[in-house]
Amino acid sequence: MWGRADYMDKIVVRGGTPLQGEIVVSGAKNAALPLLFATLLTDEECRLSQVPKLVDIHTTLRLLRDLGVQYDWLNEHEVALSSRLVRCFEAPYELVKTMRASFLTLGPLLARFGRARVSTPGGCAIGARPVNIHLDGMQRLGASIRLRQGYVEAEASKLRGAYLPLEFPSVGATENLLMAATLAEGVTIIDNAAQEPEIVDLALLLNAMGARISGAGTSRITIEGVTSLHGANHVVIPDRVEAGTFLTAAAITSGDIFVRGARADHLAALLQTFAETGVHFSVQEDGIRVTGNRRPCGVNITTLPYPGFPTDLQAQLMAMLSLGVGHSTITETIFENRFMHAQELVRLGADIHVQGNIATIHGVTYLTGAPVMATDLRASVSLLLAGLAAQGETEVSRVYHLDRGYERIEEKLSRIGARIRRVKGS
Ligand code: EPU
Repeated sequence: MWGRADYMDKIVVRGGTPLQGEIVVSGAKNAALPLLFATLLTDEECRLSQVPKLVDIHTTLRLLRDLGVQYDWLNEHEVALSSRLVRCFEAPYELVKTMRASFLTLGPLLARFGRARVSTPGGCAIGARPVNIHLDGMQRLGASIRLRQGYVEAEASKLRGAYLPLEFPSVGATENLLMAATLAEGVTIIDNAAQEPEIVDLALLLNAMGARISGAGTSRITIEGVTSLHGANHVVIPDRVEAGTFLTAAAITSGDIFVRGARADHLAALLQTFAETGVHFSVQEDGIRVTGNRRPCGVNITTLPYPGFPTDLQAQLMAMLSLGVGHSTITETIFENRFMHAQELVRLGADIHVQGNIATIHGVTYLTGAPVMATDLRASVSLLLAGLAAQGETEVSRVYHLDRGYERIEEKLSRIGARIRRVKGS
């Protein structure tokens, strides 16, 4: 059942089959999460469609329900939410520690109710991930912030518009501050803002709710505060990371996959890398097709904020380049500890050396199945991709990470020919 990943579940794949056929992209997890939190900004009903059924969505709905939000699934992927009866302003440690995006309750609660008590998330498997940029911005908007017993306690009788120059274009901080500023008095400018498509999607919903936001998708976002927001309907954008993962699955298995819903405008950096490595793709009106007919050439990749190469596709590309011709380097600049998959890929026969934030990959001609362990969401899927290309059987344990971000992945992959099954943990 969705929303209940079993800690001990494993996924077993038997590699060597080129994947072929069509796969449909789900709505974007990283867009849906802030959109769900944004509905806290109004007492009217909002409807979101193309919401993926994922563990992180389930966790978000649980948190929202605890705050007093009422919600209803109208169909498989459409949810109606009403924050009319919100009576609690706290995001507890138990939830924030399992899903950092819960920190996005801070901006909306503070803006609408004048107070919020939100646990700090702590570090995670891919890095320290502090929240200083969120807090600095909230203070500039006039909030008083106290850190007590692991919680951020924020108060403001009324937020005031301000100039918010971000020291780094943090996705989460941009989202939190954007939401908070919609109900602030006066004009807010977020400079050095994150430009990800998920930010644009959030601004679209907020504007549909009556906010006055311009410049989302550029590095300078201007928000004219309004006194209240109203209900709205919104369709979540397709998941660019899921799409990129399936496109890479075609390349790594020498398959031929049409990814319906994949948007080339959101995947320009990946497609540029495909072009450099000789992976053949064609952009069509309603999706992208990759035909993997030969081993990719080596390439140098550096992860960067959007529109640069996304850190969320770094692990998948490392799996692909492990089977490339010649050598590649990957420089990870977003998270300080996001190479945990490298050693697991080495267990499958990859030749990868990590030094600091640079991984050097010497392409090998084949990988061999082995038991491996997933450490985070994107690491898990990179091991799955490598397993699909490897000779023999690969058993990926700790796949509960996968269920946080990939909707019905075994089903989707098996429909295009993958020999994949989930084994219940014992
Ligand atoms: N950072 C700070 N201070 C802050 C905020 C961020 O130093 O106050 C640092 C972080 O420590 C990190 C870097 O800035 O080193 C980037 O963090 P950012 O805030 O941009 O990321 P995020 O909002 O925590 C979102 C996605 C991640 C994705 C990153 C980068 C969601 C729910 N999560 O995280 O997605 O990797 O942006 O694009 O949108 C995933 O889906 O697997 C995932 C990890």
